[in-house]
Amino acid sequence: MLDAFLIKGPSRLSGTLRASGAKNAALPAMAAALLTDAPVTLEEVPDLADVDTMTRLLEGMGVLVATPAPSRRIVDASRVTSTEAPYDLVRTMRASILVLGPLVARFGEARVSLPGGCAIGVRPVDLHLRALEALGARIAVEKGYIYAHVSRVGRGTGRLTGTTIRFPSPTVTGTENVLFAATLARGTTVIENAAREPEVEDVALLLTQMGARVTGAGTPTITVEGVERLSGTGPSPHTIVPDRIEAGTYLAAGAITGGDVTVSHARARDLGAFLDALRRAGAGVETTKDGVRVFASRPLEGVDIETAPHPGFPTDLQAQFLALMTQAKGTSRLVETIFENRFLHAVELARLGADVRVEGRMALVRGPSKLEGAPVTASDLRASAALVLAGLVARGETLVRRIYHLDRGYAAMDQRLRSLGASVERIDG
Ligand code: EPZ
Repeated sequence: MLDAFLIKGPSRLSGTLRASGAKNAALPAMAAALLTDAPVTLEEVPDLADVDTMTRLLEGMGVLVATPAPSRRIVDASRVTSTEAPYDLVRTMRASILVLGPLVARFGEARVSLPGGCAIGVRPVDLHLRALEALGARIAVEKGYIYAHVSRVGRGTGRLTGTTIRFPSPTVTGTENVLFAATLARGTTVIENAAREPEVEDVALLLTQMGARVTGAGTPTITVEGVERLSGTGPSPHTIVPDRIEAGTYLAAGAITGGDVTVSHARARDLGAFLDALRRAGAGVETTKDGVRVFASRPLEGVDIETAPHPGFPTDLQAQFLALMTQAKGTSRLVETIFENRFLHAVELARLGADVRVEGRMALVRGPSKLEGAPVTASDLRASAALVLAGLVARGETLVRRIYHLDRGYAAMDQRLRSLGASVERIDG
């Protein structure tokens, strides 16, 4: 299958492209439809492998997912026939855990495969499970599956009960699962130390449009007043927020090639820490009427960054920024505080000639280094993007293999890069 990109560098990217809807908002939005028997219509849903996986997962439960237009989905969970998320689908996409909260909230039961780890880390879901227990669900983990159940016997009403949930550290999908569960719980739920990512805010917006009573999304404390039932989105669809990580990736492509790239349909305010790091490194950064422009202004200089929950520097842009720092003068220190193994791109970049050393949670990059094209192998979604960025600036041919990782989070990346002047071809790899 066509599972490699053949990139010829160096190139200088210039032009404008439009960001898609955010993968990490579209996936929870589709899962949210499980909370109601009325149709949920979503606009700006990106054309990604992960969206297809979520579609298959929901259809396996009897949910109808219609695609009346390329970026529109109508998700109808009026006839759910199963509350199970099977291993063979969950293992390909960890975000499948997002069906757990809605299933428990609406049906009082769920059987969801443990997501298991991935290349960047163990990725436990203990915080999700503890929170659902606090809301009144009984949780058992057996043979790789999570069994959740809300008792109907005795005083058990089969319904969750609102309470205060305090996360020891912010968790994006953990916050979203608790949000889902709390919307139909009896009484009030307060989520403390909630994740503040724009995608969480977008999910809260959708839930509100469905009749949920949510306040404080985007801040560390979210309050949810439970209601008996939720409606669908009604006549107007919910429009998914633009993908800040996709936007940041293409802006980094402009910076690394010394080009001039504008990403439209992107919210600069969602990329504050990343744009600040680009400016500190010497890239020109401008916000346009509906997007962001990055252009070469002076030779890049190495800067230090440390990833953190939003509004800190996004871990999902760390690999791309590391690739950029190989072209910056001096030493850059990149500290990854969110995941324990998210420097897999470093060794592959070294194969292209980058001077990078990993010491635990820190990567040290010295630049600028002349990169020479070579075959490299992708390991996870954002590491793959970093290898593509390096290939754009490396002299000669770079073959990036296993780009199925890329397809999970980037729609038609080869075409979009070609539209900016890159020489990228999708081939058998
Ligand atoms: C979301 O993953 C994103 N995925 C990830 O994007 C992103 O990297 C991550 O948030 C951090 O921003 C989706 O939204 C679908 P977390 P999530 O729970 O929710 C630990 C991409 O590239 N933790 O915020 O799984 C965890 O190990 C993907 O699009 C627990 O210990 O991340 C990590 O160290 C990759 N126990 C930290 O918290 C738990 O129960 C933050 O993880 C949950 C998380």
